[in-house]
Amino acid sequence: MPIKRNEFRMDQRMIRQILLILYFLLSYNRVEGQKTLSKLEDAELEKQLKILNKSAIKTVKTKYGDTYDCVDFYKQRAFDNPLLKDHNFHPKMKPTLSTIKKDSTFSSTTNRSWTIWSKDGGCPFGTIPVKRMTKDDLVRLTHMPPPEDVTFTDEYDVSNNNSRPNGRYVSSQGYKVAIAQISYNPHNKFAGAGMSSALYNPQVNGQQHSGSRLKIHKGSDILQAGWRVDPTLYGDTKTRFFIHFQAGKIHCFNTLCPGFVQVNHDFPLDYSFMHIISQRGGKIWSVEVHIDRDLSGNWWLLMRQDFTRIGFWPQSLFTDLKSFATNVDWGGVVYSPPGVPKPPMGSSYFPIENSSYDAYCDDLTIINEKGETIEVDTTVTHTDNPYKVEFIQLSHGAKQIYFVLYGGPGESTHV
Ligand SMILES: *[C@@H]1O[C@H](CO)[C@@H](O)[C@H](O)[C@H]1NC(C)=O
Ligand SMILES: *[C@@H]1O[C@H](CO)[C@@H](O)[C@H](O)[C@H]1NC(C)=O
Ligand SMILES: *[C@@H]1O[C@H](CO)[C@@H](O)[C@H](O)[C@H]1NC(C)=O
Ligand SMILES: *[C@@H]1O[C@H](CO)[C@@H](O)[C@H](O)[C@H]1NC(C)=O
Repeated sequence: MPIKRNEFRMDQRMIRQILLILYFLLSYNRVEGQKTLSKLEDAELEKQLKILNKSAIKTVKTKYGDTYDCVDFYKQRAFDNPLLKDHNFHPKMKPTLSTIKKDSTFSSTTNRSWTIWSKDGGCPFGTIPVKRMTKDDLVRLTHMPPPEDVTFTDEYDVSNNNSRPNGRYVSSQGYKVAIAQISYNPHNKFAGAGMSSALYNPQVNGQQHSGSRLKIHKGSDILQAGWRVDPTLYGDTKTRFFIHFQAGKIHCFNTLCPGFVQVNHDFPLDYSFMHIISQRGGKIWSVEVHIDRDLSGNWWLLMRQDFTRIGFWPQSLFTDLKSFATNVDWGGVVYSPPGVPKPPMGSSYFPIENSSYDAYCDDLTIINEKGETIEVDTTVTHTDNPYKVEFIQLSHGAKQIYFVLYGGPGESTHV
């Protein structure tokens, strides 16, 4: 479906507005330093805050010190996107999948380890929890590095018959990955993928970040979900959930730009996992995520073994991901700015082939174009120095399970 003209123009206007705001913010950082904002800059920030700051029906607190506004479903950030202007989405929406999946959405209180709300409970049905943004948050976010570029050289090099996918993943400036991926083939058709990732809290500073993710993509459209420690994004060094989407030139984390439609009233997208961080050699906790394309072409984010619905990226956001994905990968990713040592990844140690000690992704699945879930038993690994990755079968109780083991201390001296 071609993009309608007026929608395109509105997008252009939105981008210009964002660029203007970024200009003000950047010049503030460069010139003004610690000084107060000028009246004009302050006005721009207030304007941006008003866009991000939706009116709250209720304000709720977690046991771990986070505060969220419960925002009416229909007032969520996604619906600021002109592409979603005439939507008929509602908070009871479910993915229309060709295979039935268990779904215990909105009963997450049945599992106490996932309940984060303090005594007064979370957000009511029909609302979603949204982190309230402050001016400091906006200023900090201008220091976000550009997104990780995903380049598979063989995508652009079909003429070379001998090209092996291994080593052809090109990491972009400042980013280092240790991943397993499905061997690239332009005819791949994936309707989704899943994984479970062990939760760790690698130590990062300043503009560094370190995390683990499931990533699916086609062309210039990319979807990611996982956990990360990212002080620039979050303002702290907690291990938190994240999603990231890129549709052509528009990209952002969580709901910092309009795109992801959240339906779950119980799960904040920046969920803190600090109460369930794995102990190396001890108890291992993990988070399970699935990204599934439903029959109407929306890409759903589902979590845990019971496929709890979190929300979805509507099909209308995308060009390449209007249809199926061609690439899927799993593993660790870190970032450090030029000249800054590389941070630890995963458990902060190199894998020793024991899942009680190693950071890992397991339960790797892909969904084929018929909607069938397939366990992944073959991948191509890619790692950047100074990290390691292994795709390996280990015994887990009576079963043999495939693991992506990844990680390393980076260039940090205190591990
Ligand atoms: C954000 O919203 C809250 C109410 O939901 C309001 O009290 C506050 O003034 C708003 N802040 C800005 C900067 O708009
Ligand atoms: C609750 O979640 C934890 C972690 O995912 C899991 O180990 C446990 O079995 C779950 N308990 C129930 C009752 O589902
Ligand atoms: C690639 O393989 C095809 C068919 O085997 C062949 O016709 C073509 O010449 C090869 N191209 C290159 C660049 O080797
Ligand atoms: C992995 O570590 C655990 C905990 O120390 C130990 O019980 C287990 O035997 C180890 N597994 C292997 C294969 O070495």
